[in-house]
Formats: sequence, structure tokens, C-alpha cells
Amino acid sequence: PEARDKMNPFAEQEAWEEHQIGKSKLQFGSKDRKRSSDDYQYVFEDGIDFVKSSVIEGTQHEEDSDQEDIDEKDMLKRELQHVSLNQDERKTLPIYKFRDELLKAVEEYQVIVIVGETGSGKTTQIPQYLHEAGYTAKGKVACTQPRRVAAMSVAARVSQEMGVKLGHEVGYSIRFEDCTSEKTLIKYMTDGMLLREFLGEPDLASYSVVMVDEAHERTLSTDILFGLVKDISRFRPDLKLLISSATLDAEKFSDYFDSAPIFKIPGRRYPVEVHYTKAPEADYIDAAIVTVLQIHVTQPPGDILVFLTGQEEIETIDEILKHRTRGLGTKIAELLICPIYANLPTELQAKIFEPTPEGARKVVLATNIAETSLTIDGIKYVVDPGFCKIKSYNPRTGMESLLINPISKASANQRAGRSGRTGPGKCFRLYTSYNYMHDLEDNTVPEIQRTNLANVVLTLKSLGIHDLVNFDFMDPPPSEALLKALEQLFALSALNSRGELTKTGRRMAEFPLDPMLSKMIVASEKYKCSDEVISIASMLSVGNSIFYRPKDKQVHADNARLNFHTGNVGDHIALLNVYNSWKETDYSTQWCYENYIQVRSMKRARDIRDQLEGLLERVEIEISSNASDLDAIKKAITSGFFHHSSRLQKNGSYRTVKNPQTVLPRWVIYHELVLTTKEYMRQVTELKPDWLVEIAPHYYQLKDVDDTGTKKLPKGQGRAAL
Ligand code: CDP
Ligand code: MG
Repeated sequence: PEARDKMNPFAEQEAWEEHQIGKSKLQFGSKDRKRSSDDYQYVFEDGIDFVKSSVIEGTQHEEDSDQEDIDEKDMLKRELQHVSLNQDERKTLPIYKFRDELLKAVEEYQVIVIVGETGSGKTTQIPQYLHEAGYTAKGKVACTQPRRVAAMSVAARVSQEMGVKLGHEVGYSIRFEDCTSEKTLIKYMTDGMLLREFLGEPDLASYSVVMVDEAHERTLSTDILFGLVKDISRFRPDLKLLISSATLDAEKFSDYFDSAPIFKIPGRRYPVEVHYTKAPEADYIDAAIVTVLQIHVTQPPGDILVFLTGQEEIETIDEILKHRTRGLGTKIAELLICPIYANLPTELQAKIFEPTPEGARKVVLATNIAETSLTIDGIKYVVDPGFCKIKSYNPRTGMESLLINPISKASANQRAGRSGRTGPGKCFRLYTSYNYMHDLEDNTVPEIQRTNLANVVLTLKSLGIHDLVNFDFMDPPPSEALLKALEQLFALSALNSRGELTKTGRRMAEFPLDPMLSKMIVASEKYKCSDEVISIASMLSVGNSIFYRPKDKQVHADNARLNFHTGNVGDHIALLNVYNSWKETDYSTQWCYENYIQVRSMKRARDIRDQLEGLLERVEIEISSNASDLDAIKKAITSGFFHHSSRLQKNGSYRTVKNPQTVLPRWVIYHELVLTTKEYMRQVTELKPDWLVEIAPHYYQLKDVDDTGTKKLPKGQGRAAL
């Protein structure tokens, strides 16, 4: 449909990349490059001018002050890493010296707050110590992580250290992927998964220890877990609780957990030189690329860590860096580019931990995950553009968005610190020191205060927690957001007017999905199209990585993609077409290549679909197919997503309208909003406006959807979508 181009998130990216590549006139080895030793200023064609501004002092522990010794140890450690992960290596971690003390404290107290520098060994070692001390004989040890990649990678690491197969004694559990077994004693899991375990086991009886790790991240699930584990610790005196954090604001955790003792692990950290740009950078992507190359050609050996906001950005920079270094010839050392982000396939994740070969330099392109969750050895330089993606929520409009925002001072310092782990480091901030001083907030606002709470409210309600206002939150969410969540769940018929869980709500809570997606699935029963709807839900859950669009074959890729849209069926049905066509070829990989589809994403969708099928059975919804009735399928989708309806406006900023006969405005529902420099709707399907009234009469009235009248928007629905 003509709407597609306007919403094509690639459209803009493309133009932008062209601009980037066209602009790259960096000449390496050019005589212009000068560097004065102490001021760190060099002139670079198109280069960036940094000023050295401050030094973050290291907090070296006394015993560790012999730097050479550590460098040596570290080298040895790195060499050993891939030969064998023997037990001696574990003993080199800062936490090792405190092993016995820590175990004594765990024995003595029920709740302990543990604080230690990132990389000191909290995540990988503490669960092993607990296992060695016999806690796993009484029940599993759970260790929660805010990020799936961290849960997986840490579990892999620990299983190696223990010499067991991943999924046996040591396993992990993340949404849609359970890599544990009967044998599992140490279970790394996302905080969201532990939250879901409460649904089946409200007292967590099968656990002897719960370690809420990376507590400083204050994700929504972690915050809710705080309340729940605090509650069960009262009637399960045998359950040990460890709250571990990489930052020093431990008092807050201690206060919340009834003055729990704080256990500090002194870290080793070296001084980090901080450099700022002289003037603000107009384009931080470009600035990051130039800075990486500058470091590469002018700085002594040591790996580089660049903090970026997301997968797309990482992939773009990856490509541009490869493109630019290709032409550099043999005079410049090899630059190994290692991306790391949440959706990176597991096989590739291990790559970032591999030691850098002699003579080469590694550049790790990471999201916030490398801020505290993962430690990559060998990093000496950090490039910090100063941004991250932050979810924000406007309870008034009910609109949630992932926006690129400036980071906080705490984050900036955490990032800088990543360069000083194994020796003195340097951090290049792609912003001015004035920006740092005056524009950055001290701390990031906890997620609970800036997110849609519908999912959490549904979970809490199904746990029997009705009085949400008096729930023991560490930092309570805005009451407006709580109210909005209740309202939304009521609109989705998950709650009745007294705020009690309905049958629909109980069924919805079984699905580890956003309430809108679960509602769409539950509603598919009525429209007899559950088979199609779970396929769509699985494809949507995979994210934006189904279609593959290589630079040199964009036209072919776009044509292939259009095939699935025949009849202007909309993005949701197109996703269904992709899934079904793939299934017809007996899940052929070849077919994926031919159609510019990412086979990995499809396999994941299939996996998710299998699980959703299992859950359908659990909530007693029959699998029924209604493939020929597209309206029925779209109505089921609308039942979940009627909040996300939009009317297209004729607006000059749009791209060419491909099909001029179509009359505007038209009505669409979208899966999500993506906010970059502009706002895009992602996954859009046309709907008949009267469906809104038919399906959600409590939310839309006829006058809201009257196309003939003047522009009136349904209540609560902002036009911000467009
Ligand atoms: O949790 P904390 O930040 O205190 O440290 P950790 O994650 O337990 O990391 C301890 C050591 O294990 C670091 O030197 C990491 O580089 C290493 N590690 C690794 O090599 N591979 C992983 N997947 C995880 C950790
Ligand atoms: Mg950790």
C-alpha cells in the first residue's frame, strides 16, 4: 500500500547512509596528522578535535597496585582463556579473596546487598560459591539478569568453568527459550522470567537462593521482583536473598530491604583519562566512526568499546567501518569489528570474548549491555556518544516509545570506567564537557516510572495482588500510569469494572507477551483463526529482523517482499504469508535465501509459534484456521490493537503516493511506533473504521470514526503517530 513507503524505516536510513559514505574522505597516513603527546590533539582531515578534560581516579585495591604484575596476569589469563578454563583463573578475580567472608555473611543474614565493580566476578562466581557451599542441595540458585544476552552468555561461561554441559547443572531461561533441565542447579534467567515463575510457584519453593543481579539497572521486572522477594522472604526464612549491584548507591537497596547489610567487594580500577569534543557533534554516528579510526591509527594497542543505541545503528557502523578500513591497505593494523546487541545470534556472541590476535585491534560495537552486564577483557579505549535508547511513556495518550536520549552522568562514568579495568584507559566523549556538566541528569529514572504498566499490572493481578497502590515499590510508579494500565486492561476486557481479573484476563496472563498481543490471541477464538493469529504473533515477536535487504540487491529484496503483500493485504497478513509460504516449503533455508528472508529469524518465529501453540492448549483455545477470511484475522488483531489506530492524514512530508486512486484518509492499526528522527508506525494494516466501534464500543463511538466529518480523533488517541 502507499502507506508503506512513508513508514519504511529503511527509507531514511538509506539516504542517510549514502550521505555518510559519500562524505568519507578520511585519508589515513596523511601528513596532516599530528599528535602532541600530553594534550592529545591531532589534526585529522575530517577528524574530531578532543580536549583532555579530566581523569577519573582509579580505586585500586592495595594488593593490586602493582600494575605490571596485573598486566602480566591479565595476558596470561587471556592466553589461557581458550585453552582451558581452569580453576586457577577463577582465583584471579577480585571477588575470590572475599569468598569465605561472603559465604559466612550469607549464612548469617537472610538478605545481603552486594556491591562490586563490574568485572569483579559477582555474576559468574557467587552462584558457584553458593553451589560449592552446598546451597544447591536445598534448592536451585537463581541469578537474574536484566538482559537476555547477559543471561545466556554468563550461563555459558559458568558451565564452561564448571566443566558441565550448558543446560545441565548450569542453565538459563529467557523468554521463549528454556535451556535448563531436571539437573539444573544454577539458573541464570532474565528478571522477567523469574517474575513469571511466581505465577506457577508463588513461594519459589524450588529455590534456595535468589540473587537479583545488576540491581542498579532498576528495570521494571527487577523493581517488581524486589517487592515480591521481599514479601516471600518473610514467610520463607530459609530463602537467601542477594541483591547485587555495580554502583555505590547500595544504601537505597539496604534501606528498602529492612537495613540489610552491605557487602563491598573492593575492585581494581585504573585511572581513566576523559576527553571531550571541543564543540558539539552534529552527527554522533559519524563522529563515532571517525573517532574509532583516529584511535586505531594514532593510539597504542588496546581494544576499543563503542556505546551505541541499538542494533540498526550497530549494523550501520559495522558496515561503514568495514567499508572504510578495506581501502587502508596493509600499513594499518587489522581492525576486528565485533557487534554485540540483544538479538545477536548466540553463535556470534562468543566472538566478542575471544582474545584479539597479535597485531590486530578489536572494536566492540555494543549497546548499553556492555555498560555493566558484560565485561570484555582488553578494552583500553571507550568511545561514548552519550546516548541510549530509553523507553518513555506518556500516560495521558497511552503512547509508549523508544527514544534516543542523552545518558545520565552515572551512565557516562560507568562507561568511562570500562576502559580502566586492566590498565589505565581513555574515554572519548563525543560531547563537550559543558554538555556533561549541565545537560546530563545525575541518574537514569527507573523504568517503572517511565513505562506502560499494563503487563506488570496483569501479572500482579494474576498473582492475587489487588491493592497495587499499596504495593511495596522501591520507587512507586506515577499513579497516573497505574490508572492508565488499569484502564487499558479494562478496555481489553482483562479486568472487570471492579478491577478484578476476568476469564479473558486470566487467559491473557498465560502468554508471556504484551497484553495487546495476548488479547489478539485470545480473541482469535471468537474469529476462529487462532492458527493464523499465533503465526502473526510469533512473527511480530521476532522483531524487525525478518526481511533481509543487502545493499547491492535492494531492488530484488524489495520485490521479493512485495510478493507477500499481493492484494494490499497489510503488513500483518504479509507476515502471515511469509510464515505460511516458508512452512509450505517444509521450512526450507534455500527458500529463505531466494526470498530475502532471514532464516534465523524464521526459525525463531517457528520456535515461538510452537510455544504459543502449547499455551493455546493450556488456556483451552482450539487451533482453528480461517485462512480465507482475512477480515476475521484483522478483526482479531484489532481486538488487541484498537488502541493503536491511526488515521492517515494528507501531509506534505509523505513520500509519493503509489496508488493515487485511494482516497485519504484511511484507517490503520499499527503494531508499534518507532521514534527516530521521525515517527514511524511499524507493521501497519488497514482496517475498516466501523470495526473499532464493533470491537471496542467502550472505547470508540461512531462519531470518532466518522470519515465524512471533520478531523476528530478518538478520545485518548493522539495524532502523534503521524
Ligand atoms: O558480575 P561482575 O561484573 O562482577 O563480573 P563477572 O560478569 O562475573 O565477570 C568476571 C570475569 O569473567 C570477567 O573478567 C569477564 O571478562 C569474564 N567473563 C567472560 O569471559 N565471559 C563471559 N561470558 C562472562 C564473564
Ligand atoms: Mg555482573
